[in-house]
Order: sequence, then structure tokens, then C-alpha cells
Amino acid sequence: MTGPRPSRPGMSRPGMSRPGMSRPGMSRPGMSRPDIPCRAGSGLKAAHSGAILEQRPDLGWFEVHAENYMGAGGAPHRHLEEIRRNYPLSLHGVGLSIGGHGPLDKDHLARLKALNARYEPGLFSEHLAWSSHDGLYFNDLLPVPYTQEALQRCADHIDQLHETLGRQMLLENPATYITFDDSSMSEIAFLQSLATRTGCGLLLDVNNVFVSATNHGYSPEDYLDAFPVTLVGEIHLAGHARDLDDEGAPLLIDSHDRPVDDPVWTLFRRVIRRSGPLPTLIEWDNDVPEWSVLHAEVRKAEHLLANLLTHTDQEPGHATAP
Ligand SMILES: [Fe+2]
Repeated sequence: MTGPRPSRPGMSRPGMSRPGMSRPGMSRPGMSRPDIPCRAGSGLKAAHSGAILEQRPDLGWFEVHAENYMGAGGAPHRHLEEIRRNYPLSLHGVGLSIGGHGPLDKDHLARLKALNARYEPGLFSEHLAWSSHDGLYFNDLLPVPYTQEALQRCADHIDQLHETLGRQMLLENPATYITFDDSSMSEIAFLQSLATRTGCGLLLDVNNVFVSATNHGYSPEDYLDAFPVTLVGEIHLAGHARDLDDEGAPLLIDSHDRPVDDPVWTLFRRVIRRSGPLPTLIEWDNDVPEWSVLHAEVRKAEHLLANLLTHTDQEPGHATAP
């Protein structure tokens, strides 16, 4: 989703903590075992359903936004049911507001539970963000301060989601444009603590890392080298827009409206060399192109994953901030 357009954020360099836990989703009692292959997949857009069902492209899996399928029936569900019969499916929530101050919306939780029961997706994920408060709903994924209070609140919400769905969720790292003075820990420490407390896995959005690192002035390579990849069950790649803030400094917007940028591909190679192949999604949600264009992006990710173990690609260089 597109983030807010803020003024120049403050500097914040994440911590360098190392992971020490096993891969999520493989051994948690009572939780479903993910069946999404370690291949590239695509976000499913309504405009592409016809072409996909007709062509049946060789593709690892599809992901949909849960909130687009909360109606009872109609063409969206007919198409998705046919997709589900032919491809593994991942469900990605964008509106639960896990980082929100108030309690989770029980009606929204019930709809997520029904969707999970209906489609039995291989993965379910949500964001480290908030998007509603006191009955008001926003279109943006808004940032969470990295404090003990927010950590407890998010952990309680993830526990509630786990109990409702009866399965493990993956929590996605955000693209951010501001930092909070009262944050007392790094983003990585916050995510890792949530995984330890709740048993959730992590979704690593490499484009979000590049966007945040550029906006806040830290190294995306350092961030990714410190990220607990053993907790990662899925990777996201997407395009971003380039802008300037009020002071003329580079400002990246997580726009999902264009191809994945070269520095993000470079960072992706760096991650999978450390993690090994992981389910990898191309997100393209705005200014959606012809299916052939999106499919080419998926094939590029697939090529990198497939060749990871067999060919001698160049050592990953450092991504270049604009
Ligand atoms: Fe993402």
C-alpha cells in the first residue's frame, strides 16, 4: 500500500541483533504447515484473472489482499476459487491494524477467519502498522513506535489473531517515513521480540527496507544482514516512487506502481544468498500493467531463486541510494 507523504524523517539506525530461532511455520503445535513453494509468485489483480485462467502460466503461487474478498460471492470469488484449484494461494491482510491502540475489530477478525477457512491459504500475513482508531479507518499503513508498550499491544493482537485463525501468521516489516523520539529499540529488535513472544513468522519486504533506509539515511545492506532470516517465511518485492522532501533530500514512496528497482533486486540477491530460496512475491497494486509485464517480473525473481544454488553470480554489491 502507498504510505503517507511525510516531511523529512529523523535518523534512526536499526540494531544488529542476530536471529537464533528456527524457521517459522514448520513446527508450531496446532498451526497449519505452509505449503507455498520457495518459488516466485504474483499478486493477483482482478484485471489479470481472465488471462491467467486462460493461459495457466507456470507460476509458483498467487497472493491476494484479504480485504478484496470479504464479500460473499460474485465474480471475484468465482475467479479466486478457480485460481485456488490450480495454484497455491497466500492471503495478505492490509486492514487489521495490528499496531492500533484499541482492540482488534471482532467483525474483521471473523471475516478473516471465514476467508482462511474457505481458501485454506498456504500463508497468511499482515503488517506491522495501524490503520484504524476509534471507528475511523485510513487508507495508509501508519507507523508504530518501537516501545515496550507498543510491543505488548502488538503481541496481544497477534496472539488474538493466532487464536482466531488457529494458524501462524507472518508479520511484514513496514516502509516508514517518520521515526518516533520515544522508540526504545530498533525495528529489527521489535520484530524479533514479537516473533519470540507470539510464535509469528516474519515477512521480509525488501523494497520496504530500501524505502525506509533511504528515507532515514541508514544502510539497507546492514539492516538486511542483521535481519533474522531464519524467521522469514516470505519475501515481498515491489516498485517505489522517487520524490524529494521539503529540504530537497531523496524521499521514496512505497507506491507499488512500477517495476522493482535495480537496487532492490541487488538487495534481494543478497538476502537469498543468506537465507536460501524463499517464497517471493512481486507486488504491483497501482497502475497495474498487462499481465505479460507483471509475469516478466515474476520470472526474473524465479530465475534468481532457481539459479541460487547452481550458478556463480557476482557477489552482491551495495545498493545505491538515489
Ligand atoms: Fe509488501
